[in-house]
Amino acid sequence: MGLRLQMLMVLVMMVSLQGWLPLGCMEEERIALLHLKDALNYPNGTSLPSWIKGDAHCCSWELIQCNSSSSSSRGRVTMLDLGSVRNQELGDWYLNASLFLPFQQLNTLSLSDNRIAGFVEQKGSYEQQRLSNLEHLDLGLNHFDNNILSFVEGFSSLKSLYLGYNKLKGLINLKESLSSLEDLDLSGNNINKLGASRGPSNLSALKLENITTYESSFQLLQSL
Ligand SMILES: *[C@@H]1O[C@H](CO)[C@@H](O)[C@H](O)[C@H]1NC(C)=O
Ligand SMILES: *[C@@H]1O[C@H](CO)[C@@H](O)[C@H](O)[C@H]1NC(C)=O
Ligand SMILES: *[C@@H]1O[C@H](CO)[C@@H](O)[C@H](O)[C@H]1NC(C)=O
Ligand SMILES: *[C@@H]1O[C@H](CO)[C@@H](O)[C@H](O)[C@H]1NC(C)=O
Ligand SMILES: *[C@@H]1O[C@H](CO)[C@@H](O)[C@H](O)[C@H]1NC(C)=O
Repeated sequence: MGLRLQMLMVLVMMVSLQGWLPLGCMEEERIALLHLKDALNYPNGTSLPSWIKGDAHCCSWELIQCNSSSSSSRGRVTMLDLGSVRNQELGDWYLNASLFLPFQQLNTLSLSDNRIAGFVEQKGSYEQQRLSNLEHLDLGLNHFDNNILSFVEGFSSLKSLYLGYNKLKGLINLKESLSSLEDLDLSGNNINKLGASRGPSNLSALKLENITTYESSFQLLQSL
């Protein structure tokens, strides 16, 4: 009787755990999400109200998707769709790139239209190596300058990169480290030369709408 009751309890626990997991995410990632929320709202924004401390079901929070496969990746954050989240009145700001380190399975990240002027803590490749699953990155409609290029070059798995409507200017030289890149959008910047030292060989879509050029006419270097 005692044994059967114990077995029944284990069974009930397993069933309820199954029901809970699809909405729960990893503790490490949940804490990181809350840090990210604080950063996006600094100093007094009110965005992401559904991201609540003490709510373990972070995969059901707005603008997040988790892996729902029945593997060890289950419950890990795969998508963060944080476009236009930050209150524009809070002004230009610098985002701490290390805040994304815990998201090892992150595949898609959008930070568009948030008045971001740059990342801090971009100490070489250590940070980016951990985001080794990142394939889609949208940093459009922000205030990034050319320094953003050396930052994104660390993401070797990137397939699509949107940098439209930022403050890039002059010569843009794509590095071979962006070897997986298929889709690149540099619209709305002030670029007059675009080249690639050894190039993203798989680049199949390049969007350059509304490029403003003051000094010389636009040149697409032959390497591309
Ligand atoms: C944040 O603080 C500033 C200055 O005190 C104020 O003007 C603004 O309305 C506040 N914003 C929010 C969302 O509370
Ligand atoms: C979920 O994880 C599995 C195993 O790691 C992986 O094959 C799959 O691509 C992941 N799904 C998403 C949406 O990232
Ligand atoms: C950036 O975030 C990391 C991880 O949360 C933290 O250790 C570091 O102190 C932060 N750096 C800055 C400049 O805020
Ligand atoms: C280029 O695309 C082909 C076909 O999709 C793929 O097999 C190859 O790995 C890609 N190369 C890089 C460097 O990503
Ligand atoms: C072109 O860029 C200017 C300035 O950034 C903007 O006002 C305008 O709407 C853009 N046009 C298109 C077609 O996107």
